[in-house]
Parts: sequence; structure tokens; C-alpha cells
Amino acid sequence: MNKTSNAKRRQLVVGNWKMNGNQQLNAELLAKVVAGWQGEHQAEVVVCPPSPYLLPAFEKISGSSIMLGAQNLSQYDSGAYTGEVSAQMLAELHCKFVIIGHNERRRLQGETDEQVAQKFMAAQRASLIPILCVGESSAQREQGRHLDVIGAQLKAVCSQVGCDVFANAVVAYEPVWAVGTGKTATPQQAEEVHRFIRSQLGEVAETVRILYGGSVKASNAEQLFAIPDIDGALLGGASLDADEFLKICKAAD
Ligand code: PGA
Repeated sequence: MNKTSNAKRRQLVVGNWKMNGNQQLNAELLAKVVAGWQGEHQAEVVVCPPSPYLLPAFEKISGSSIMLGAQNLSQYDSGAYTGEVSAQMLAELHCKFVIIGHNERRRLQGETDEQVAQKFMAAQRASLIPILCVGESSAQREQGRHLDVIGAQLKAVCSQVGCDVFANAVVAYEPVWAVGTGKTATPQQAEEVHRFIRSQLGEVAETVRILYGGSVKASNAEQLFAIPDIDGALLGGASLDADEFLKICKAAD
């Protein structure tokens, strides 16, 4: 795919496996993905397995261009935080990316914009690239507040450390009502929000990759990727099926 308006930005497809699979299934999935993504590509591909599988996943992808990401991290660098995993630990396990502020963590673990901003900074301290998830609930959209909500989620980071930090970050727009539901934002809805996100990112805005996430499938990926401000996708369900995942990666390529 060739989009002249964003020639500076390489398309990125990220597979968020969430808490799925097991050692054997993950190995099989990754073997198929690696086999289907040989050689050089325009698009970049990242897989984010559950943290116990990061190292085995790294072994499987080494030698390919596929990169590794984690699904979460602690905002603290070290200390008495039972059960937490630090950014440095993830970097040692060869992660390059980490998903921050996924709506499942915001909703189910009560992560606040403030905590998410701290995690963003913790990731960058360890030279990990944060993939900052933002997005509105269906109620917020119905009330016409979606851009306010997303603006506040971005501002939580920009107000603490300035927007220039987005030069080494990725943003993922994931409408909460579209994640895991089979409902996808219309191209018009996605276009409005992606354009808005870019308008909030200051001087580095044109270089920042903004992904769309929420029920992306092989059947709707091309249409989404054709939108100038969409620079790839964050996939949940579709990343668990090697054929589907590869089709989407190829659509971004
Ligand atoms: P989905 O999940 O593709 O299954 O909707 C996306 C995500 O949670 O990142």
C-alpha cells in the first residue's frame, strides 16, 4: 500500500494476544506467522504475547523482522510491588514495544489517565516504545464527548512531559465499544478521531504513528488503512489466527 500523505510513517501492525493460548498453541501460532512473514517488508509487525511467553516468543521470531511487545508494565522502576513487571525487565526480555492504557486495564484494573501517563514515562526510561491506547465508551460517544475524552487521555502525558515524547511513541485509537465486539468504527468516525489525535500532538505530530484498534479483520483492514491518518492496526482477536493476522499485515505492507 502506498499512501503519499504519510510517506514518513511506516505502517505498523500489532497483535495483542491478551491472556490467551498456552505454550504449545503460541508456538504453533508464531511458527505460522514467522513462516508467512519472511524477507523484507514496508510494514512493521509486532506480537505481544502474555508475559510468561515473551522469551520463548523472542526465540521463535529471532531472525525474522517481527518484533516483540508486552501488554502492560509497572509505572515503578523497582521495589516492593508484588506481581508487577518493570520496563527494564521487559527490555531485558527483548521487548521493543509495550501497550499502555489498554481499555481492559483502564476498566478492569481501574488504571487512571495519571497512572497511564506514569507508565508511558516508565516505558521510555527503559527505551521501550509505548503504544498508548486511547478511546471513548459508547456512552461518551453518544453524549458527543468522545474528542474531549481522548483529548484528556493525551493531555495526561503532554501536560507532564510535553508532547515531544510522542516522537518515540505510538498512539492507538481503540473505541471501547469496538474492542472485541465485532463492531468497527466507520471510516468517517475513525478519520475524525485520528485527525483530532494528530492535531493534539504538537510539533512531532506528523511523525507519530496512530493505529486503529477495535474488531479489525482482514475484511475491513484495507478500507481502514486507506485513511490517511491511520498508520496501521492494533489487533486482538484477529492476531490469534495466523492466516487472518498475516492477511492484515499484508494489507498494511
Ligand atoms: P479486538 O481487540 O481486535 O479483538 O477488537 C483489539 C484490542 O483489544 O487491542
